[in-house]
Amino acid sequence: MTSIDPLTFPPGFLWGAATASYQIEGAATEDGRTPSIWDTFSHTPGKTLGGDTGDVACDHYHRYREDVALMKDLGVGAYRFSIAWPRVQPGGSGPMNAQGLDFYRRLVDELLEHDILPWVTLYHWDLPQELEDAGGWPNRDTAARFAEYAVQVHAALGDRVRNWTTFNEPWCSAFLGYASGVHAPGRQHAPDGLAAMHHLLLGHGEAVRAIRAADPEAKLGITLNLYAISPADPASPGDLDAARRIDGLANRIFLDPVLLGRYPEDVRQDLAGISDFGFVRDGDLETIAAPLDLLGINYYSRHVVGAPDPDVPAEPYWRAPTSWPGSEDVRFLKRPGVPVTDMDWEVDAPGLTETLVRVAKEYPPVPLYITENGAAYADTVEPDGSVDDADRVAYFDAHFRACHDAIAAGAPLHGYFAWSLLDNFEWAWGYTKRFGMVRVDYATQQRTIKASGHRYREVTKHNGLAG
Ligand code: NOJ
Repeated sequence: MTSIDPLTFPPGFLWGAATASYQIEGAATEDGRTPSIWDTFSHTPGKTLGGDTGDVACDHYHRYREDVALMKDLGVGAYRFSIAWPRVQPGGSGPMNAQGLDFYRRLVDELLEHDILPWVTLYHWDLPQELEDAGGWPNRDTAARFAEYAVQVHAALGDRVRNWTTFNEPWCSAFLGYASGVHAPGRQHAPDGLAAMHHLLLGHGEAVRAIRAADPEAKLGITLNLYAISPADPASPGDLDAARRIDGLANRIFLDPVLLGRYPEDVRQDLAGISDFGFVRDGDLETIAAPLDLLGINYYSRHVVGAPDPDVPAEPYWRAPTSWPGSEDVRFLKRPGVPVTDMDWEVDAPGLTETLVRVAKEYPPVPLYITENGAAYADTVEPDGSVDDADRVAYFDAHFRACHDAIAAGAPLHGYFAWSLLDNFEWAWGYTKRFGMVRVDYATQQRTIKASGHRYREVTKHNGLAG
């Protein structure tokens, strides 16, 4: 145990806010941007709730100055945002688009002028459509395209950006995109999902190597969505095995190659009927395990799982079972009495501590950052225009405490990014789910800081929970 003040975080702890390009920028056809898989997907009838698209979103492309001012008001020290690949390299190969890059240069300059550290995600799901047409992530060549793109973005912004993460949540890109198809590009073929996973990881490793060679000072990492996992009944061997399988597919199949240079053997065996992992070539795992400066973790909830049981109806679960190749028969349960967010995800702050401590204990040491954590709730606007999002305030507070507990238990956690700065386009859910500390009225684009934003200002100011 590390001895720290119960309410205060270690000096220099980074308090940030996060967003992603397609979810906030809008300006989908401006200044040379070409379609990504999310433009195509969201414009396909039936793919997103209400047919919502990111065409306009929060119009951040035009309102970024106002949004940086909001960040400053909330006292955030770092802003995690992503680069839209089809904005800066239309089509995903060939020359860069100066107008697209200029947007990010202006954004970064604005952040630096306000003493906010820019924290760049190179890929938050908006693959150029041309690359999908050429095979997408199941095609090995996409990894090489990504590394080329990454190096060129670094060449343009590396003089002012120190912190880089390659991919955001490759689990979602691979399994929601290519196995269950609930995300773009909406393909439903489990073997492709696994090939996509490998090529995303390969692209990560190649990009890390190439940026490192160009800039030894760069701080490089990847962001994984990790879950706490529990068996429904810890005394049931079947439930324990279900937990092992889902932990394998959610957590270890990404953590192990990136941090240990191998795929977990038990998971490979679970997947033997789907794929022989023939996509792995000599040297790939060495590339994928290129040394990192940080690991980003997105944490939202816990999965409670059990063995199939025909007598116990499974709770409906928002993710399609086919998102879990080889484990489609596992039951996802909701525990009675445990509160859920508007996403139907259980609120489980101790799971965040558990996740951080587990990574610290089971993997080689690497500085950890929570690159996303937050909650969707159906906010109501008071007659005076204010938003008293008490549920979100409570969610954040419990998770701040969970971070503090993890640090006290020795986890090398250096920062926390709230998801999200703004209400935004929540993928297949469109604009129906609100995660922001700042409300966006999509009809007027008016921004209103919610109670959770006011609370976050106190946290960033005091470096902790005092006040
Ligand atoms: C994960 C993703 O990175 C982000 O894009 C999404 O909006 C949030 N979590 C909430 O689902």
